[in-house]
Amino acid sequence: MVGAGTVGGGVYEIVMGRLLERASQGKRPLWITKICVKDLSKPRSFHLDESITTLTTNFESIIHDPDIDLVIEVMGGTGVAKAIVEGALKNRKMVITSNTELISEHLDELEALIQDQRRLPRTGFGYEAAVCGGIPIIQTLQSCYTGDLIHKVSGIVNGTTNYMLGKMEKGAEFDDVLREAQELGYADADPTGDIDGYNVRAKICLLAKLAFGVSVPPSQVPCKGITELSSVDFEYAKLLGCTIKLLGTAERLHEAREWDGPLCVYVSPVMIPSNKTLAGITRNGNAVAVTSGNMGTCCYTGPGAGRFPTANSIVADLVRLADGQASTKPFPLQAKLDVDFDYEGSFYIRIPYADGLGIIKRVGELAEEAGVSIHSIIQNPIRDRMSADFVVTTEEAKVSQIESLCESINEQHDFCRAPCVFMPMLIHDDDF
Ligand SMILES: NC(=O)c1ccc[n+]([C@@H]2O[C@H](COP(=O)([O-])OP(=O)(O)OC[C@H]3O[C@@H](n4cnc5c(N)ncnc54)[C@H](OP(=O)(O)O)[C@@H]3O)[C@@H](O)[C@H]2O)c1
Repeated sequence: MVGAGTVGGGVYEIVMGRLLERASQGKRPLWITKICVKDLSKPRSFHLDESITTLTTNFESIIHDPDIDLVIEVMGGTGVAKAIVEGALKNRKMVITSNTELISEHLDELEALIQDQRRLPRTGFGYEAAVCGGIPIIQTLQSCYTGDLIHKVSGIVNGTTNYMLGKMEKGAEFDDVLREAQELGYADADPTGDIDGYNVRAKICLLAKLAFGVSVPPSQVPCKGITELSSVDFEYAKLLGCTIKLLGTAERLHEAREWDGPLCVYVSPVMIPSNKTLAGITRNGNAVAVTSGNMGTCCYTGPGAGRFPTANSIVADLVRLADGQASTKPFPLQAKLDVDFDYEGSFYIRIPYADGLGIIKRVGELAEEAGVSIHSIIQNPIRDRMSADFVVTTEEAKVSQIESLCESINEQHDFCRAPCVFMPMLIHDDDF
């Protein structure tokens, strides 16, 4: 195993506590014989059985050890970790990793490497822990939709931002909530990956690959995090009977028939009616809703991170690989689909304004110029006429039309006092 922090410590405890007895059940015994860490002198959060396991700082001694069958990468990052995962695969070892960024950024390379190894006995690749920690969503998408056609995968896949949005719904402001999340250890010192949506983007690209067979480079995916949101958006959400969640979404757009258009992948905060399942995912929970032809919509919810939930997914991969029960194709689908990032929906647009004459008329004219039809205009109780916000909700439009409308409103310096905030609204009946 490479890494013995939060997740690695949990894996070690489960494997050395529960799986050693497999031998007495006639199954292949599993031991962790070497662990590579960065700092040998660091105290560990688990009891190291020195009669079985040695610590090292040299990962080469693991990937070149002929007695090691399988390497678990739980250190993170995309530099050294990539060398470890690739090196282990090239040395004909099975590999398990919890590293979302690594897999999604190098999906094609890794898939080719895994494909190469498939001809060899005892090879395999597990990554259940890389999306939604403890929820078995990878295994589900690999094996439970083989006779079905998935239309849409959408989910709350980042617990840190879900925790923060829950606090903002109760009235807290973004900066205060971020500080609290950092103090609790939910958010990193550099929180960019979470709050700017990049972590969600990496995960939805993996889910898109599993659901649709298309490898979408994360850097191309439109990605909005939660940094623009303020407590006033939650006031408006309440007026609309909604809450706000950060979602990663991959769906077939509608063209001639339902769900027959190009694949669309995006990350954005979304206005969700409070009675939907996704709206009820609180604290740092995760949920993925999968909509398909046979099943309608199924929602998979559970702990998206944490020591034992994440370790549980790794151990499940480990046992499947050791027992020869893992999918021989970790990315079973291969498809050629057009990709179009211009997603569609009804949108919420908050316009921060200083009061004056003719503002609504002007916004109406700009909407007409952008080809956007306004559905409703909402105003919360005004506390300060010179520093207020009103909201426009729209009929179905493309995100490019909404962006162009917001850009032209932002240029109305006589009343627009800050950039507009926009997000899609989840209003279709089949949406969870
Ligand atoms: N934490 C979660 O809930 C969770 C959930 C899902 C996925 N993941 C993913 O799982 C991976 C591990 O996360 P974590 O929370 O367990 O991280 P962590 O607590 O920071 O542990 C990282 C481990 O990697 C070791 N390490 C770091 N750089 C190294 C290097 N250059 N050479 C050798 N060892 C090195 C560290 O060694 P030292 O201990 O000596 O410093 C540490 O043991 C990440 O990819 C993360 O994104 C985490």
